[in-house]
Amino acid sequence: MIKGKNQPKSGSAKTTAADLPGSGGYGANDAKLDDLARNTEDSAGEYLTSNQGVRINDNQNSLKAGDRGPTLLEDFILREKITHFDHERIPERVVHARGSAAHGYFQVYEPMAEYTRADFLQDPAVKTPVFVRFSTVAGSRGSTDLARDVRGFAVKFYTQQGNYDLVGNNMPVFFIQDAIKFPDLIHAVKPEPHNEIPQAASAHDTFWDFISLMPESMHMIMWVMSDRAIPRSLRMMEGFGVHTFRFINEQGKARFVKFHWKPLLGLHSVAWDEAQKISGKDPDFHRRDLWEAIENADYPEWELGVQIVEDKDEHSFDFDLLDPTKIIPEELVPVRRIGKMTLNRNPDNFFAETEQVAFHAGNIVPGVDFTTDPLLQGRLFSYLATQLIRLGGPNFHEIPINRPVAPLHNNQRDGYMRQTVNRGQTSYEPNSLRGGCPFQAGTAMHGFESYAERIDARKIRARSPSFFDHFSQATLFFKSQSAPEQNHIINALRFELGKVETPAIRERMLFLLSEIDKTLAKRVAEGLGATVPAKLDQPINMSIPADADPRKVQPKRAKQEIETSPTLRMVDNPNFPTDNIKTRKIAFLIADGFDDDAVAYMRQALLTAGAAALTVAPRLGVLTGAKGEEAKADFSFLTGSSVLFDAVYIPGGDASAAALKGEPEAINFVGEAYKHCKTIAASGAGVELLKSAGLIPRTSGEVAKSDQQTVHPGVVISQEANFSQLADDFIKGIARHRHWEREAVG
Ligand code: HEM
Repeated sequence: MIKGKNQPKSGSAKTTAADLPGSGGYGANDAKLDDLARNTEDSAGEYLTSNQGVRINDNQNSLKAGDRGPTLLEDFILREKITHFDHERIPERVVHARGSAAHGYFQVYEPMAEYTRADFLQDPAVKTPVFVRFSTVAGSRGSTDLARDVRGFAVKFYTQQGNYDLVGNNMPVFFIQDAIKFPDLIHAVKPEPHNEIPQAASAHDTFWDFISLMPESMHMIMWVMSDRAIPRSLRMMEGFGVHTFRFINEQGKARFVKFHWKPLLGLHSVAWDEAQKISGKDPDFHRRDLWEAIENADYPEWELGVQIVEDKDEHSFDFDLLDPTKIIPEELVPVRRIGKMTLNRNPDNFFAETEQVAFHAGNIVPGVDFTTDPLLQGRLFSYLATQLIRLGGPNFHEIPINRPVAPLHNNQRDGYMRQTVNRGQTSYEPNSLRGGCPFQAGTAMHGFESYAERIDARKIRARSPSFFDHFSQATLFFKSQSAPEQNHIINALRFELGKVETPAIRERMLFLLSEIDKTLAKRVAEGLGATVPAKLDQPINMSIPADADPRKVQPKRAKQEIETSPTLRMVDNPNFPTDNIKTRKIAFLIADGFDDDAVAYMRQALLTAGAAALTVAPRLGVLTGAKGEEAKADFSFLTGSSVLFDAVYIPGGDASAAALKGEPEAINFVGEAYKHCKTIAASGAGVELLKSAGLIPRTSGEVAKSDQQTVHPGVVISQEANFSQLADDFIKGIARHRHWEREAVG
């Protein structure tokens, strides 16, 4: 028998879950990791072979007739290698093409039997494996992470009752109410068809043309123009199931449910100017952040929240629960946190896992069911249809990342790339030749049974009048924002509509914005050098049928039960901590001669608080402090940039400060951090850099004399060696994330 150097004594080189990196906390019993391990391959210590297992002894030269002769058709090694390479691409997702994913697990806090019979929501001791993919919607596979866009938040739970996919977004509502408009929406937002410009951006005519004719999108537009669309990290954003679903308990009782994911690191964004710069400096910013956090064992965590509505209360709201452009404000139905998800392992192979994973809103398990939300209903068709072509046939459920850990038995057979070798004579049911196997499962045996919803209706193509309030919740969202966040929405609209070339589109948008909030529309108009039209020449919703009575289909405004909801904003949102700087990246600007004590003290203080200190210097290599301490430069001013960090510290040391003052990129670094409202600290001679950057007065006076003080919101300095107070203030400042009030003073 031929043996590879590291070949195990028997069987193939398979690992179990316990052997895989990051499996800490899982234990060896993790079903999905063991399942994936059946397909993992690691070439370490092995010979190179062809796909037929034949060892190759020359991978440098093709087979030729003579030294300089033509290549021979006979060269099966060359042909196999090149042919495989030629077929390595599959179509990217038609939407959500750009994504990154991670493995983890979910645990429920207490049994949810009162509400649902879903098995994975019963036992707090059970860790259900999950695979989660985050994505942007509009951009292609290689587009930047920091595009202004909705983020997909898709979770596959590998439950004992089969796979359950919660295919959500980081915003709780959607642009459209009916699936029939989805292709139009996506055609409008994707690059324009004649010149394929712009990539991963909604700031162009076709998107706003469509939106300005779709008043139902106004609530979602408020979310996408808000800072939610430019998250600081995938680990710091909420997730939502968007649609109203159903929970069904063992007794068959149904209730409505909306799903939420609440990030334990809080809810944070970057500034729009920063987002655009990150797109150049590090287009993989979110992907890298997720990857590095998991590699550093800073496992991202979210709590799963549910809003449960009794069946009898279906019609007790001033909006329709089936309308995906509406939220249920948390003030009306609180979010109950029922469990926690932890992501603790990066994929082994991007293509095999992140690219080939197939989420489907229609993958549900007993205890969960759909509602007749007309957007959800369309999605139930769409995912399987698209995956059939994206993954090349009907057997993509056999791809390791997609296959359930629950046993799978049915009479489906054959098709491209079939992996399963089904034994036996029968592939139909009922049969007698196989004793009727595989059997149908009764409800008590976890057989899925659809909720017996009563439907008694005429077949019509129409929108329910209960869906016609397109503005109330857009107004609620805008009014609920803090002043800086409102400014950001206004500026985002000025940016996006400023890129629109057709005046009529801007005008229609300004009119629609005035239906949300007059001041909002006026301020956007000011930025555009335009005026808000008092009325439009044509009906507001041009997509209504020509023979419809416009009075019946015009948007109307419902009475809102609440005026504002603090849970909708990001700044001071009561649902999230404001005292946490865990996993934040802090730049230390240093050069040779830095103040060793200051660097050591601040580094330790930040580490203790869970943040990371990284040095940025005029050059790479090892730097020497004033007392001889050595520090490795993690970045130079060429490889690091202020937009890649959460806060900046400039320690003292006369030589270090003098070198930084002579470095235009260092001055730019702190100036940009200031502009993006980040916390900045400086001590000793480091304060001089802030003076050079024009952030504090150059001359004596108050600043020069005093020791410890805050010179601007979020800018703290200490002229003397009072590191303890400085570190406290710095950490408090970072925990506030951004000091947006600086924007108000310019
Ligand atoms: C009728 C409306 C919709 C249609 C037709 C639709 C269709 C699609 C399609 C075709 C894909 C690509 C799937 C693949 O190739 O594997 C996709 C991905 C996705 N959709 Fe939708 N979608 C709709 C609405 C929504 C809504 C409302 C949400 C959020 C609640 C959503 C969330 C996602 C996510 C997160 C992905 C990416 C999944 C992944 O990471 O692979 N979609 N959608």
